[in-house]
Amino acid sequence: MKIAVSRKEHFNAAHRLYNPSWSDEKNDVIFGKCNNPNYHGHNYELIVTLVGEPDPETGYVYDMKVLSEIIKAHVLVHFDHKNLNLDIPYFKNLNPTAENIAVVIWRILRQQIDNQYELKVKLYETERNFVEYPAH
Ligand code: NI
Repeated sequence: MKIAVSRKEHFNAAHRLYNPSWSDEKNDVIFGKCNNPNYHGHNYELIVTLVGEPDPETGYVYDMKVLSEIIKAHVLVHFDHKNLNLDIPYFKNLNPTAENIAVVIWRILRQQIDNQYELKVKLYETERNFVEYPAH
């Protein structure tokens, strides 16, 4: 009996999307406002989902307090109120799109969550734009 449980967290961060191997004009065409050289911010909503069997003694799949603490200690402390391009080494050579941010967060959390749980990350960059990793 597998059940998915989710914890929602929040962070603000600045970024700039650009490909250094392209011209300024091409970066403008592809990335538009997200190419602003002086960066811009988003209010990100992060939903972390674990899939597993409920423990017979607690009825919990996972203790949400523990999951929240793990997200805070390993993700939010590095991402919240930061410039993703400048402050986070993962994005030194990786464009900080919502897609890439979700994958980076998934990799960080995968090291903290026992492999008996399936792990999924959903990241809202705006209310209308969001990504999920893995895709299924
Ligand atoms: Ni943006």
